[in-house]
Amino acid sequence: MTNNIYFIANWKMYGSLSSINTLNKLINLSKLKKYKNAIIIYFPPFTLIQNFINKFKTTKISVGGQNCHVVEDYGSFTGSVSPKMLKDLGCKYVILGHSENRIEGESDEDINKKIRSALNKNLKVVFCIGETLKEKRKKITFSVLNRQINKGLKGIKNLNNIIIAYEPVWSIGTGLIPKDKELELNVIKIKKILSKKTKLRLPILYGGSVNNKNISNLKNITGINGFLVGSASQSSKKFIDIIKKTIN
Ligand code: PGA
Repeated sequence: MTNNIYFIANWKMYGSLSSINTLNKLINLSKLKKYKNAIIIYFPPFTLIQNFINKFKTTKISVGGQNCHVVEDYGSFTGSVSPKMLKDLGCKYVILGHSENRIEGESDEDINKKIRSALNKNLKVVFCIGETLKEKRKKITFSVLNRQINKGLKGIKNLNNIIIAYEPVWSIGTGLIPKDKELELNVIKIKKILSKKTKLRLPILYGGSVNNKNISNLKNITGINGFLVGSASQSSKKFIDIIKKTIN
């Protein structure tokens, strides 16, 4: 990995004000020349976004929202947060299409609308895709990825601000990761699908049970530009370890 490498920390519905104090070592690391190609982005729960943004103010570390509403600005949508609200806070990114939201009923069409709204507000989108275990067993991974990508990105001309996160659903939070060959083949499939849509080489990240042990192997997988880390990112020590082991 020679170019930019993404390290995404997805805190899901975890974290408290005091967890912000654990980030000092990571901030110091991010300032070292050795890690200049590391793009580090935190996705805390909405309630902590402002605190994370303040904490990272003088650093290169960015902050994003874990989801957003389809409506760009304001509206009567109890419990929701719009792309404009994220942008106004100082977020640069938003995660969309995460399997935990798809499972709760978010459709490819919903995700497409959200991506459009987020892009309209100049947010960069971490667009999650991935097959379930059932789909993998049925050997329909390619058609699932094809559908998710084509429906999710339908009608979007400029894909400059899209980052793909390939996250096999069966791998998220389970400790299971795909075999090297399988992962490489799926990344090739994703690139093939994308090549029909754009000439750009969108970053492709891997997510699903990435930790400070399996990273030494995962970093050697061809075609991957970084990692979306869930539970291991809640420990600064483990997240630092992941960055250090990737860039050594
Ligand atoms: P995990 O989560 O690293 O805990 O498997 C990844 C994710 O949900 O994006």
